[in-house]
Amino acid sequence: MILTERLQTIATMVDKGSVVADIGTDHAYLPVFLIQQGICGKALACDINPLPLEKGNQNIIFNHLQDKIETRLCDGLNGIGEDEADTFIMAGMGADVIIHILSSCEYIANEKYTLIIQPMTRYYTLTQWLYKNGFEIKEQKCTHEGKRPYTIMKIKYTGKKTPYTESDLYLGSMDTSDEECKIFLSNEIRKLNKRVLGEKGLEEVINVLEEKVNDSK
Ligand SMILES: C[S@@+](CC[C@H](N)C(=O)[O-])C[C@H]1O[C@@H](n2cnc3c(N)ncnc32)[C@H](O)[C@@H]1O
Repeated sequence: MILTERLQTIATMVDKGSVVADIGTDHAYLPVFLIQQGICGKALACDINPLPLEKGNQNIIFNHLQDKIETRLCDGLNGIGEDEADTFIMAGMGADVIIHILSSCEYIANEKYTLIIQPMTRYYTLTQWLYKNGFEIKEQKCTHEGKRPYTIMKIKYTGKKTPYTESDLYLGSMDTSDEECKIFLSNEIRKLNKRVLGEKGLEEVINVLEEKVNDSK
């Protein structure tokens, strides 16, 4: 199976011999690839929605991997036993969904697990949640597909809160000399500039309203 650049980069961050649960697996491309490459011996392919899971199931059957990959219909980690996997991948979902999944799991705050996370949106809210809740970003890579840049974090629970500044939430543990990370950060800067412009717009509305109120006194 040939993976996209984003999924390939995720696969390079999985330790050999891991038992992976791919949460929000959809097509199950990642578990199939990890087994085919001998990176994992067995895996769980999990999704909250039956249709994507069925797509994943078809892909698993097509690749004759039913004995190595189990599919599971579940919301996040609910329904996955704490000894069923040591590595949880959460890719292609928004940071809010990922935060919801992590905060509703009782056992995930444990150093025995590795999390590999690639959020689609609001990445800085996820780093904030991780730093506040005792998780550490051990490795971070960036990649892109077409024009869209992505970042992927390999995370461990340490129990120690990480102090942070606002910019740390964007920098994470990136190697800022890496070209892909520079592309990712440039895109974050572009989004931040848009937000600042938005706020300036609001400032103007407030100024006009204040002027009107003061004029009519
Ligand atoms: C855009 S796909 C990403 C597929 C794949 N992980 C990737 O990165 O290419 C997002 C998948 O996450 C699933 N999903 C959304 N919320 C979920 C949750 N709380 N638990 C499990 N799966 C979820 C959706 O049903 C969908 O199949």
